[in-house]
Amino acid sequence: MLIAVPAETIPGETRVALVPRSVTQLVAAGATVAVQAGAGVGAGLPDAAFTEVGAEIVTDRARLLGGGDVVVVVRRPSVDDLRRLKEGAVLVGLLDPADDPAPVKVLLDRKVTAFWMEALPRISRAQDMDVLSSMATLAGYHAAVMAAYRLPRIFPLLMTAAGTLTPARVLVLGAGVAGLQAIATCKRLGAVVEAYDVRPAVKEQVESLGARFVEVGIESEAQQDTGGYAKELTQEAQRREHEVLAEHVHDSDVVITTAFVPGRPAPVLITKDMVGGMRAGSVVVDLAAPAGGNCELTKPDEEVRSHDVVILGPTNLPAAIPGQASQLYSHNVTRFILQFVKDGQVSLDFDDVVIAQTCMTHDGKPMGDRMAALLTAAPS
Ligand code: NAI
Repeated sequence: MLIAVPAETIPGETRVALVPRSVTQLVAAGATVAVQAGAGVGAGLPDAAFTEVGAEIVTDRARLLGGGDVVVVVRRPSVDDLRRLKEGAVLVGLLDPADDPAPVKVLLDRKVTAFWMEALPRISRAQDMDVLSSMATLAGYHAAVMAAYRLPRIFPLLMTAAGTLTPARVLVLGAGVAGLQAIATCKRLGAVVEAYDVRPAVKEQVESLGARFVEVGIESEAQQDTGGYAKELTQEAQRREHEVLAEHVHDSDVVITTAFVPGRPAPVLITKDMVGGMRAGSVVVDLAAPAGGNCELTKPDEEVRSHDVVILGPTNLPAAIPGQASQLYSHNVTRFILQFVKDGQVSLDFDDVVIAQTCMTHDGKPMGDRMAALLTAAPS
């Protein structure tokens, strides 16, 4: 049974889906692993690092894609690449089907069993397979570092013979996995940190990191769904949120936003007017840029300047930390693959919630409600 690792092709994607340590584990489970030549270079892993642990290096991408029983990627391959997959192969990665149904149709035609790691159930048993958490942790860290670098002042309090420098004030909006890591990193750098999230459970987590929780008055259990994710706010709740946040945005040197609502555009938390009220030199880092942004002025992967405030909308921060992002990603997907690769065979158990819920297509059929809804909504 061959596990194939093609090089990533999306511009700026530096990660590789498997690192050598994972190759060793998969070989021990009876698989043969083939890696496209140069696939690990962006992550600091030369071909030799893979051959040392028994992987084959393949230069012909089409042969690699067509030969893999299991193909492991970070991001969704192009439609042309998907057409090259062997009929009945297994594909694992961040396949992001929501923006385009065309690749899904190819996966159905090729009878590919595709697993989108974004859909992995967030249950205790699957924690070590949770790619979203791993990548959000790194993104939250990097957003804080990026803000510290761009702010024209330092984060910590500094008392010197020449006078005292007051600490920077940071506001973090959305305190899920990325937000909590951004809070922790800004605290370590010495900033005074405040944070807000609509989920009430977050207050304690924010305070345990030494940050202050902003009270808007709309936080309640009703703001989250059964999966623990936030729901879209009513217009009235959104108005109230804007009213309270405006004051805190005004007083902050840095705002890091990380708020998402699954299946919906990101909520707007910082309006154009709020940016106008910020001090010159302030920095906004908007991690919700791929979903439209939490700031009205955000442009994905561009630097926007408004009233001398810098607004950054990075869409792939894990790619800025390619070695460790690949290490965590590879560990997560390998734990997942080892659920169904045993003794050199693929054996899928659809009674297992981790397999069933993460599966997108199997044997020519869409799997799960989310996929069915997507295909129904798509133009034929
Ligand atoms: P996410 O990336 O979907 O959203 C980030 C944050 O934005 C969330 O905390 C959400 O409440 C917040 N948000 C949404 N709308 C907002 C608004 N209008 N104003 C302020 N904040 C807003 O969330 P993430 O980080 O992926 O976590 C989602 C849930 O999954 C959380 O409950 C988390 O604790 C849970 N989780 C569970 C895991 C496990 O048990 N294995 C692992 C990781 C996360």
